[in-house]
Amino acid sequence: MDELNKYISKLREDFTKGKLNKEDVHQNPAIQFETWLNQAVEAKIPEVQAMTLSTVSKNNSPSSRIVYLREFGENQFYFYGNYSSRKALQLKENSNACLNFFWPQLERQIRIEGHVKICDDAISDAYFNARPIESKIGAWASQQSEELDSREELDKCVEKFKNKFEGQEIKRPPYWGGWVFTANYYEFWQGRKSRLHDRICYNLKNTDWSINRIAP
Ligand SMILES: Cc1cc2nc3c(=O)[nH]c(=O)nc-3n(C[C@H](O)[C@H](O)[C@H](O)COP(=O)(O)O)c2cc1C
Repeated sequence: MDELNKYISKLREDFTKGKLNKEDVHQNPAIQFETWLNQAVEAKIPEVQAMTLSTVSKNNSPSSRIVYLREFGENQFYFYGNYSSRKALQLKENSNACLNFFWPQLERQIRIEGHVKICDDAISDAYFNARPIESKIGAWASQQSEELDSREELDKCVEKFKNKFEGQEIKRPPYWGGWVFTANYYEFWQGRKSRLHDRICYNLKNTDWSINRIAP
């Protein structure tokens, strides 16, 4: 552990790939997000759609995990999972949440704060129906975040649903679907030299976004 601690304490990256000024960003953060996502896709960043989703329990305990962004629109971000999972329970208790994207190859981070609600059944159905068959069976078989006695227990459950749905259309389980996150704050972070990074944030006031630079 000592060696590893010595190693990580000495890691230093000087970020030099870009700059970000208030004058450069779009007035609409959704378009700014689209621009940066596009650039990340063009840069072929692996798992570009992976984002950290942070939620908070009713006892104010925070919890984070990676989920995939599957669609975005005007300040709306869609992701999918199990409605009995820990994130689902926390979102039910407290709809405030935070998203974070980190694209190291572009030396960029985007933080987005907002609130989440369960999305329309029709949206969840359309997304579920477009998934590969293995993912559909996985959604039926996994009681996400529940304790399992063994890996075999999960594998058996997958087999059970494979057999059950053999040759049939697989419908979305009632305990699986999407959420829509609506943003009220964005922060676009561009790494700069000597830790003097650029941070431009957008705050939603009524229907207008105010844009400010904040210190690194
Ligand atoms: C790259 C990656 C992508 C993931 N995508 C999803 C996803 O889209 N939906 C999901 O529910 N879990 C996804 N997970 C698993 C979650 O990180 C997490 O383990 C799971 O959702 C259970 O979290 P919870 O117990 O906080 O609810 C992904 C994990 C990784 C590493």
